[in-house]
Amino acid sequence: MLTQDLPRDWWKSAVVYQIYPRSFADSDGDGIGDLRGIIDHLGHLEALGVDVLWLSPVYRSPQDDNGYDISDYQDVDPIFGTLADLDALIAAAHARGIRVVMDLVVNHTSDEHPWFVESRSSRTSPRRDWYYWRDEPNNWGSFFSGSAWEPDEATGQHYLHLFSRKQPDLNWENPEVREAVYAMMRWWLERGVDGFRMDVINLIDKPGGLPDGRVGPGDLWGDSFSMVANGPRVHDHLREMQDRVFADHPHAFLTVGEMPGVGVGQAALFTDPARREVDMVFQFEHVDLDSGPGGKFDVVPLAMPRLRESLMRWQVGLAEVGWNSLYWDNHDQPRAVSRFGDDDEVWRERSAKTLATVLHTLRGTPYVYQGDELGMTNVPFDSPSDFRDIESLNYVREQTAAGASFGDLLAGLRAKSRDNARTPMQWTGGLHAGFTTGEPWIPVPPNASRVNAESQVGVRGSVFEHYRVLVALRHEEPVVARGSITPLAMDHPDLWAFGRAHDGVELLTLAAFGREPVTVPAEMLQGWTDAAAVVTTSAGAATSLLGSGVLPGWEAVVLRRVSRAV
Ligand code: NOJ
Repeated sequence: MLTQDLPRDWWKSAVVYQIYPRSFADSDGDGIGDLRGIIDHLGHLEALGVDVLWLSPVYRSPQDDNGYDISDYQDVDPIFGTLADLDALIAAAHARGIRVVMDLVVNHTSDEHPWFVESRSSRTSPRRDWYYWRDEPNNWGSFFSGSAWEPDEATGQHYLHLFSRKQPDLNWENPEVREAVYAMMRWWLERGVDGFRMDVINLIDKPGGLPDGRVGPGDLWGDSFSMVANGPRVHDHLREMQDRVFADHPHAFLTVGEMPGVGVGQAALFTDPARREVDMVFQFEHVDLDSGPGGKFDVVPLAMPRLRESLMRWQVGLAEVGWNSLYWDNHDQPRAVSRFGDDDEVWRERSAKTLATVLHTLRGTPYVYQGDELGMTNVPFDSPSDFRDIESLNYVREQTAAGASFGDLLAGLRAKSRDNARTPMQWTGGLHAGFTTGEPWIPVPPNASRVNAESQVGVRGSVFEHYRVLVALRHEEPVVARGSITPLAMDHPDLWAFGRAHDGVELLTLAAFGREPVTVPAEMLQGWTDAAAVVTTSAGAATSLLGSGVLPGWEAVVLRRVSRAV
């Protein structure tokens, strides 16, 4: 059962598990995951030990962007079930001690939301100003290819959509819009939800007059992107939201703002508890490092030190004020083990465990995306018909229209398509990975017969069991949640090392990022080899480390010592 008797910052010692409902578990055989499917599998989350379930959108939606285009914020889409099912899920999760955080998608609505239908009905509609309408488009491009403006024949103007043309942007300058959003949020809190993951919330404050960006048409990722991200009024809006929504709800909730383009300095402001904006943000720096000048599908090699430099700079930057969210992937990113680890079958499990060890012992709140705890991988896509995601499909359409062949695009799509993370959760080695009895809406990857929950839960040495240890560690060792962070060996090409300290207890995380063994500098192990207790190891080679100072490839070891009598 849930206790409400928690410190305000209870989420520092929590682990969040993200469910992408479409791909998690299908209870009715239509090939699409649903709420009853989630209820049936809550035991999996409880076994893992997670504290919070973040549910990607299940609201009523035309599903142009898999539910991130919402036409009714206060109802459940029939493909996922009913409001009663959602109430049942919240109650069932709470009964297992798991809080439920909903996705809050209020930078935009669906173009089928009644607010937009009314807004587009005439130039004099009372809701016209709830969205952005202009006679002439500016040069902003959409995140999903093409212009960010869509002409509307009936009223002869264009409306702004930073994402798909079926996702018109709400005008947050209009106080009526803000009040409508806050009322909806209060309604959900009263229904029992425990917080919100706020979709692209730092894009809600557009610059006055919507001036052109300095880059060419269709390129939102250059200067014009920085024009829409982190506008000064975002801070005001978030503070107002705290006052209008959360102030009357003293129970334990969590707010996390998804913020593409946020830097460390801004993130410290957004997450400074004294400013009362959000508890933590999702930043994008480490997941943008392998994008070239041509955008996310223009993949460039990424050496570990660059990844480490970025994440450790965030660690240090938010060490005094603010708080990190820790994630390797989610429903928008390729699978971590394929991207940052090694998905060759010989190394897959070890690298999955190594990545998890680093993430879960850093300072911040870790997020586990469904299937990461099994070491699920990217998908060997090879035909245009393999893709479902609007971003990938629009990209293929735009590039092939400009003369590229599908073959030219395949490497980028394989590496970065969001569909990599959206394949069905691999429950068993049986039909459709045990996800559905029907035809899955997106194919099950070929390795499901080997990589699945059935073969891991309760099995010593599995990726799942390693995650379970890491989650428990956070709950049991205050140093994981509360400790200071000290980056170590920052010039080493393959060793990721850092120390944590709190209240007389120290942890040392040492991880070999690659297949080659790594010799740990002797001075780093001084004082650890005697007193150290091995807390976790991903490949079982801690003895070799303590004896010879060598970490085998893709091994991560966490050592603990008591630095003074407590
Ligand atoms: C971020 C979400 O995570 C992504 O899936 C979605 O396409 C965009 N925001 C637009 O809502």
